[in-house]
Amino acid sequence: MNSRTKNRGPANNHVLRIENLDVIRSGKEILRDVNITVSKGEFVGIVGPNGSGKSTLLLSILGVLKAQNGNIEIYGYQPMSRQLYEKIGWVSQAAANMPNEIRITVRELVQLGTVKLSNMFFESDKKGRQERVNNAIKMVGLEDVEDENIGRLSGGQRQRAVIARALATEAELILLDEPLVGIDRESRNYLLKLLDELCHNEGKTIIMVSHDLTAIRQTAHRMIFLEETIRYDGPTENFPDLEGLADLRGIEPVHKNLDTHDHNHSMEEE
Ligand SMILES: Nc1ncnc2c1ncn2[C@@H]1O[C@H](COP(=O)(O)OP(=O)(O)OP(=O)(O)O)[C@@H](O)[C@H]1O
Ligand SMILES: [Mg+2]
Repeated sequence: MNSRTKNRGPANNHVLRIENLDVIRSGKEILRDVNITVSKGEFVGIVGPNGSGKSTLLLSILGVLKAQNGNIEIYGYQPMSRQLYEKIGWVSQAAANMPNEIRITVRELVQLGTVKLSNMFFESDKKGRQERVNNAIKMVGLEDVEDENIGRLSGGQRQRAVIARALATEAELILLDEPLVGIDRESRNYLLKLLDELCHNEGKTIIMVSHDLTAIRQTAHRMIFLEETIRYDGPTENFPDLEGLADLRGIEPVHKNLDTHDHNHSMEEE
């Protein structure tokens, strides 16, 4: 791929356009012929069994992993393009698992999201930055603990702090990889509501990978079932039940205990 010829710039409403994507890691084909187009304001849930390539897909969108074939455009630009700087927020599961001894307050962590090279030389937008930090902390409901060390917060609160950092950047596309793992039910519901509002009220575009099928079905407008390639992509209300999923995966429907732990997990959560 030649980024100079492929950088077309924003020519349409598509936030993300993935065409014929193949990704190989350590000699193994992980993603095959993946095609996805996402428009502004969509909330897309990505599900699939362990090792089905969900994180690989997000890392490819971020530009961390390079594709063998195919093309990815975000707002018309190749991943990692200068023009995308600050437009993409990334929230990973690691957030809830941060070591307890991390000595950084919620406010400081959120502020990190606003650090730009230009700000290091020009303090012109200091007020704007402070406002963004305040708003982000308010949106995730962490005002009461903003001066606490991250290590003292619950997993759910930490996850919210990391989301606030993404919000403070004013990212327009937010990618979340398993943000619900390790957080309590109350925080989970709070997070899902927040993400829903971000789409509806702020026009953010959200792509969320989760094993929590129940939670994702309640919130996402659109679901993608990924297992090396896309097996389902469509409205959440049409997302197949377990038997339908078995069909999609080419498994005999008699095997009701699918090895995708989507099922087990969502049962646990109920
Ligand atoms: N650094 C790596 N090098 C080589 N192969 C990798 C690497 N990381 C992951 N893989 C392989 O790529 C495949 C897809 O991994 P990926 O992490 O994208 O799956 P996933 O759908 O996110 O799984 P999970 O639900 O467990 O998070 C797996 O077979 C995995 O073993
Ligand atoms: Mg993963």
